Amino acid sequence: MHEEVKHPCVQHKLALIRDKDTGYKKFRELATEITMFLCYEALKNVKVKAVTVETPLAETECHKIAEEMVVVPILRAGVGMLEGILDLVPTARVGMVGMYRDAKTKAPVAYYEKLPEQTRNGLCIVIDPMLATGGSTAATVQLLKEAGAATVVVVCIVTCPEGLAAMEERHPDVAIYTASIDDHLDERKYIVPGLGDAGDRLFGTR
Ligand code: PRP
Ligand code: URA
Repeated sequence: MHEEVKHPCVQHKLALIRDKDTGYKKFRELATEITMFLCYEALKNVKVKAVTVETPLAETECHKIAEEMVVVPILRAGVGMLEGILDLVPTARVGMVGMYRDAKTKAPVAYYEKLPEQTRNGLCIVIDPMLATGGSTAATVQLLKEAGAATVVVVCIVTCPEGLAAMEERHPDVAIYTASIDDHLDERKYIVPGLGDAGDRLFGTR
Protein backbone atom coordinates (compact mmCIF):
# COMPACT_ATOMS: atom_id res chain seq x y z
CA MET A 1 0.00 0.00 0.00
CA HIS A 2 1.26 3.47 -0.75
CA GLU A 3 -0.21 6.93 -0.47
CA GLU A 4 0.91 10.10 -2.21
CA VAL A 5 -0.06 13.01 0.04
CA LYS A 6 -1.50 15.58 -2.36
CA HIS A 7 -2.40 18.25 0.19
CA PRO A 8 -1.57 21.73 -1.20
CA CYS A 9 0.51 22.61 1.88
CA VAL A 10 2.73 19.58 1.22
CA GLN A 11 2.92 20.18 -2.52
CA HIS A 12 3.84 23.85 -2.00
CA LYS A 13 6.75 22.90 0.25
CA LEU A 14 7.77 20.16 -2.17
CA ALA A 15 8.07 22.77 -4.93
CA LEU A 16 10.41 24.76 -2.68
CA ILE A 17 12.58 21.84 -1.56
CA ARG A 18 13.01 20.57 -5.14
CA ASP A 19 14.47 23.92 -6.31
CA LYS A 20 18.19 23.56 -6.99
CA ASP A 21 18.73 27.05 -5.57
CA THR A 22 17.32 26.12 -2.15
CA GLY A 23 20.32 26.10 0.20
CA TYR A 24 20.97 23.64 3.03
CA LYS A 25 19.43 25.76 5.82
CA LYS A 26 16.12 26.15 3.98
CA PHE A 27 16.30 22.56 2.71
CA ARG A 28 16.53 21.31 6.32
CA GLU A 29 13.61 23.47 7.44
CA LEU A 30 11.46 22.26 4.56
CA ALA A 31 12.39 18.61 5.20
CA THR A 32 11.23 19.05 8.81
CA GLU A 33 7.96 20.70 7.78
CA ILE A 34 7.13 18.18 5.04
CA THR A 35 7.94 15.30 7.39
CA MET A 36 5.49 16.61 9.96
CA PHE A 37 2.68 16.67 7.42
CA LEU A 38 3.55 13.24 6.00
CA CYS A 39 3.80 11.65 9.43
CA TYR A 40 0.51 13.22 10.49
CA GLU A 41 -1.04 11.28 7.60
CA ALA A 42 1.01 8.11 8.19
CA LEU A 43 -0.09 7.88 11.82
CA LYS A 44 -3.79 8.17 11.12
CA ASN A 45 -4.39 4.48 11.90
CA VAL A 46 -2.30 4.28 15.06
CA LYS A 47 -4.00 2.47 17.96
CA VAL A 48 -5.56 4.66 20.64
CA LYS A 49 -6.96 3.95 24.09
CA ALA A 50 -9.88 5.65 25.83
CA VAL A 51 -8.95 7.80 28.82
CA THR A 52 -11.10 9.86 31.15
CA VAL A 53 -10.10 13.52 31.43
CA GLU A 54 -11.49 16.09 33.80
CA THR A 55 -11.83 19.47 32.12
CA PRO A 56 -12.55 22.55 34.25
CA LEU A 57 -16.25 21.82 33.55
CA ALA A 58 -16.80 18.07 33.38
CA GLU A 59 -15.37 14.59 32.97
CA THR A 60 -15.08 13.44 29.36
CA GLU A 61 -13.78 10.48 27.43
CA CYS A 62 -10.70 11.24 25.32
CA HIS A 63 -8.22 9.14 23.36
CA LYS A 64 -4.47 8.79 23.72
CA ILE A 65 -1.99 6.93 21.54
CA ALA A 66 -1.64 3.40 22.87
CA GLU A 67 1.27 2.10 20.80
CA GLU A 68 4.97 2.11 21.57
CA MET A 69 6.56 3.97 18.63
CA VAL A 70 10.10 3.63 17.36
CA VAL A 71 11.30 6.07 14.70
CA VAL A 72 14.11 4.73 12.53
CA PRO A 73 16.04 7.24 10.40
CA ILE A 74 18.28 5.66 7.78
CA LEU A 75 21.66 7.37 8.13
CA ARG A 76 22.48 9.74 7.03
CA ALA A 77 19.74 11.58 5.13
CA GLY A 78 16.97 10.14 7.34
CA VAL A 79 18.29 12.28 10.18
CA GLY A 80 16.98 15.29 8.26
CA MET A 81 13.43 14.04 8.93
CA LEU A 82 13.89 13.25 12.62
CA GLU A 83 13.01 16.66 14.04
CA GLY A 84 9.76 16.72 12.05
CA ILE A 85 8.43 13.44 13.40
CA LEU A 86 9.63 14.08 16.95
CA ASP A 87 7.76 17.40 16.91
CA LEU A 88 4.65 15.32 16.26
CA VAL A 89 5.43 12.38 18.60
CA PRO A 90 7.90 13.66 21.20
CA THR A 91 7.78 10.43 23.21
CA ALA A 92 8.81 8.18 20.32
CA ARG A 93 12.03 6.25 20.79
CA VAL A 94 14.70 6.43 18.10
CA GLY A 95 16.60 3.55 16.51
CA MET A 96 19.42 4.27 14.09
CA VAL A 97 20.26 2.26 11.00
CA GLY A 98 23.25 3.15 8.81
CA MET A 99 23.08 2.27 5.10
CA TYR A 100 24.90 3.65 2.12
CA ARG A 101 24.57 2.74 -1.54
CA ASP A 102 27.60 1.06 -3.04
CA ALA A 103 28.97 3.48 -5.66
CA LYS A 104 29.06 0.82 -8.39
CA THR A 105 26.24 -1.65 -7.71
CA LYS A 106 23.91 0.81 -5.89
CA ALA A 107 23.12 -2.05 -3.50
CA PRO A 108 22.72 -0.99 0.15
CA VAL A 109 25.63 -1.59 2.51
CA ALA A 110 24.67 -1.72 6.21
CA TYR A 111 27.24 -0.15 8.56
CA TYR A 112 25.40 0.67 11.79
CA GLU A 113 22.44 -0.53 13.83
CA LYS A 114 21.24 0.52 17.27
CA LEU A 115 17.61 -0.22 18.07
CA PRO A 116 15.69 0.23 21.32
CA GLU A 117 14.29 -2.97 22.86
CA GLN A 118 10.77 -1.60 22.26
CA THR A 119 11.34 -2.38 18.57
CA ARG A 120 10.10 -5.89 19.44
CA ASN A 121 6.31 -5.80 19.11
CA GLY A 122 6.39 -2.06 18.45
CA LEU A 123 5.27 0.21 15.63
CA CYS A 124 8.36 1.25 13.66
CA ILE A 125 8.36 4.26 11.37
CA VAL A 126 11.24 4.27 8.89
CA ILE A 127 12.19 7.73 7.65
CA ASP A 128 14.39 8.50 4.66
CA PRO A 129 13.81 11.36 2.18
CA MET A 130 14.58 9.16 -0.84
CA LEU A 131 13.15 5.76 -1.75
CA ALA A 132 14.94 5.23 -5.08
CA THR A 133 15.68 1.59 -6.01
CA GLY A 134 14.13 0.74 -2.64
CA GLY A 135 17.21 -1.25 -1.62
CA SER A 136 18.07 0.77 1.51
CA THR A 137 14.50 0.93 2.76
CA ALA A 138 13.77 -2.75 2.04
CA ALA A 139 16.95 -3.82 3.86
CA THR A 140 16.04 -1.62 6.84
CA VAL A 141 12.50 -3.03 6.98
CA GLN A 142 13.97 -6.56 6.87
CA LEU A 143 16.24 -5.75 9.78
CA LEU A 144 13.29 -4.39 11.79
CA LYS A 145 11.17 -7.44 11.06
CA GLU A 146 14.03 -9.65 12.24
CA ALA A 147 14.14 -7.55 15.43
CA GLY A 148 10.46 -8.42 16.00
CA ALA A 149 8.69 -5.21 14.91
CA ALA A 150 4.92 -5.70 14.89
CA THR A 151 4.19 -3.11 12.22
CA VAL A 152 6.47 -1.11 9.93
CA VAL A 153 5.47 2.09 8.14
CA VAL A 154 7.74 4.00 5.73
CA VAL A 155 7.71 7.77 5.27
CA CYS A 156 9.77 9.28 2.43
CA ILE A 157 9.65 12.66 0.76
CA VAL A 158 10.09 11.41 -2.81
CA THR A 159 9.91 8.00 -4.44
CA CYS A 160 9.43 6.51 -7.92
CA PRO A 161 7.64 3.53 -9.54
CA GLU A 162 10.79 1.35 -9.45
CA GLY A 163 11.21 1.81 -5.69
CA LEU A 164 7.55 1.19 -4.94
CA ALA A 165 7.59 -2.00 -7.05
CA ALA A 166 10.66 -3.28 -5.19
CA MET A 167 9.00 -2.62 -1.83
CA GLU A 168 5.74 -4.22 -2.96
CA GLU A 169 7.67 -7.33 -3.98
CA ARG A 170 9.72 -7.64 -0.78
CA HIS A 171 7.41 -6.09 1.83
CA PRO A 172 3.82 -5.96 0.58
CA ASP A 173 2.60 -5.55 4.18
CA VAL A 174 4.38 -2.21 4.65
CA ALA A 175 2.52 1.06 4.05
CA ILE A 176 4.51 3.84 2.35
CA TYR A 177 3.64 7.54 2.64
CA THR A 178 5.27 10.05 0.32
CA ALA A 179 4.87 13.57 -0.99
CA SER A 180 5.58 12.45 -4.56
CA ILE A 181 5.86 9.45 -6.83
CA ASP A 182 8.30 10.85 -9.37
CA ASP A 183 8.84 9.81 -12.96
CA HIS A 184 11.80 7.43 -13.07
CA LEU A 185 15.37 6.60 -11.99
CA ASP A 186 18.25 7.80 -14.15
CA GLU A 187 21.31 5.72 -15.07
CA ARG A 188 22.96 6.61 -11.71
CA LYS A 189 19.78 5.45 -9.92
CA TYR A 190 18.84 8.99 -8.91
CA ILE A 191 15.17 9.89 -8.79
CA VAL A 192 14.06 12.21 -11.64
CA PRO A 193 13.03 14.97 -11.13
CA GLY A 194 13.75 14.22 -7.44
CA LEU A 195 15.69 16.41 -5.04
CA GLY A 196 19.25 15.52 -6.04
CA ASP A 197 21.47 14.00 -3.35
CA ALA A 198 19.35 14.47 -0.24
CA GLY A 199 22.21 13.89 2.23
CA ASP A 200 24.45 16.46 0.55
CA ARG A 201 21.64 19.00 0.29
CA LEU A 202 20.65 18.55 3.95
CA PHE A 203 24.11 18.72 5.40
CA GLY A 204 25.87 21.05 2.96
CA THR A 205 28.48 18.48 2.01
CA ARG A 206 28.52 19.43 -1.67
C1 PRP B 1 20.38 7.78 -0.12
C2 PRP B 1 19.02 7.98 0.52
C3 PRP B 1 18.56 6.58 0.77
C4 PRP B 1 19.12 5.84 -0.41
C5 PRP B 1 18.01 5.63 -1.40
O1 PRP B 1 21.34 7.52 0.81
O2 PRP B 1 19.06 8.78 1.66
O3 PRP B 1 19.03 6.02 1.99
O4 PRP B 1 20.14 6.67 -0.98
O5 PRP B 1 18.43 4.85 -2.45
P1 PRP B 1 17.89 3.38 -2.71
O6 PRP B 1 16.43 3.42 -2.55
O7 PRP B 1 18.33 3.13 -4.11
O8 PRP B 1 18.55 2.46 -1.72
P2 PRP B 1 22.90 7.37 0.42
O9 PRP B 1 23.22 5.96 0.12
O10 PRP B 1 23.21 8.37 -0.64
O11 PRP B 1 23.63 7.72 1.77
P3 PRP B 1 23.63 9.08 2.64
O12 PRP B 1 22.27 9.22 3.25
O13 PRP B 1 24.68 8.77 3.65
O14 PRP B 1 23.99 10.23 1.75
N1 URA C 1 19.78 9.08 -3.04
C1 URA C 1 19.55 10.42 -3.13
O1 URA C 1 20.01 11.18 -2.25
N2 URA C 1 18.86 10.88 -4.17
C2 URA C 1 18.36 10.07 -5.12
O2 URA C 1 17.71 10.57 -6.06
C3 URA C 1 18.59 8.69 -5.01
C4 URA C 1 19.29 8.23 -3.96
